[in-house]
Amino acid sequence: MTNIILCGGNGTRLWPISRTLMPKQFVKLFNEQSLFQLTVQRNSKVCESQFIVSNAEQYFLAIDQLEELKQVNNKYLLEPIGRNTAPAIALACWALDPNETVLVTPSDHLIKNEVEYQKVISRAKELAQEDNLVTFGITPTFAETGFGYIEALNEDVKAFHEKPDEQTATNYLAAGNYYWNSGMFMFKAGVFLEELKKYSPEIYNGSMQAYKNVNNHGMIRIKHEDMLNIPEDSIDYAVMEKSDKVKVIASDIDWSDLGSFDALYEELPKDENGNTVNENHVAIDSKNNLIHGDQRKIATVDIEDTIIVDTGDALLISKKGSSQKVKKVVEEVRKNS
Ligand code: GDD
Ligand code: MG
Repeated sequence: MTNIILCGGNGTRLWPISRTLMPKQFVKLFNEQSLFQLTVQRNSKVCESQFIVSNAEQYFLAIDQLEELKQVNNKYLLEPIGRNTAPAIALACWALDPNETVLVTPSDHLIKNEVEYQKVISRAKELAQEDNLVTFGITPTFAETGFGYIEALNEDVKAFHEKPDEQTATNYLAAGNYYWNSGMFMFKAGVFLEELKKYSPEIYNGSMQAYKNVNNHGMIRIKHEDMLNIPEDSIDYAVMEKSDKVKVIASDIDWSDLGSFDALYEELPKDENGNTVNENHVAIDSKNNLIHGDQRKIATVDIEDTIIVDTGDALLISKKGSSQKVKKVVEEVRKNS
């Protein structure tokens, strides 16, 4: 089985830790390891090879971090520009045998229960080998609007709804038979391409054409003009919402997509006052704060429930609970630069 690792995203909600040239999946957030490295380590226990799909800027970060893990013989596919996940996955599938089973994973999620993870992966393999598109469902805990929702009847999927509005998400949560889509998928490369052909023929044709023209000197490079001819869309809208081959496996794997500083706060080690552990933090009557920064001392007095992120060239101060709005900061910063 091949693990297609998607690392084309920028992770703007973790600004200023996450930058265009150092996106969050490559930042060493946990025990000097990046989420990308943790992903590779986790998946190399269940897959024989890794297939990294990223953009050219991230290629060298990926190579360096894989070398640190002594992980060699990886495959790379480089996109000159991102066209979202459906084209990225399609291009990787063109490069594989149609019968190859693939595990598609983001590179920026945390999964803490690896024992359970290995169990769900082996069940997924059985379903994928029966020509299904397998999704991994997470029991929802609040009405998140940034996720896909899977309406399930055991392992069968009645419907897949990508990113509902707040009211719809609230209804799904109350209904009880909906899972969050974890953003990981398993299928045979050829089965995915057939479903893509049915439901998004332009992405199918565009990616097939682009793959025919690739340069393959150790890594597969898609040409810029070919990439422009592929419509932009995510796998969730392009295929998963439409296909009748989708299955879901309940995945109690202790998953977090670390999509915001609030989510990150939950996962980082904390001291007895609920502040994240940081040797540069001088805390006077301060509690329940996320303090990130190793450039200088950060002192807080009577500060509670606050997020402070200092990277030397940028400083973020946010109330806890508001960290979804950080992506607006990035929009402002880009406008003014
Ligand atoms: N190579 C490549 N090229 N990777 C990409 C591209 C691209 O153009 N666009 C996104 N990615 C990568 C991101 O880096 C991330 O690892 C993964 O693909 C998913 O993309 P996101 O942009 O993070 O998707 P999302 O968070 O909005 O939604 C997806 O994940 C949710 C769970 O976190 C969907 O699958 C949702 O249904 C799901 O709930
Ligand atoms: Mg995401």
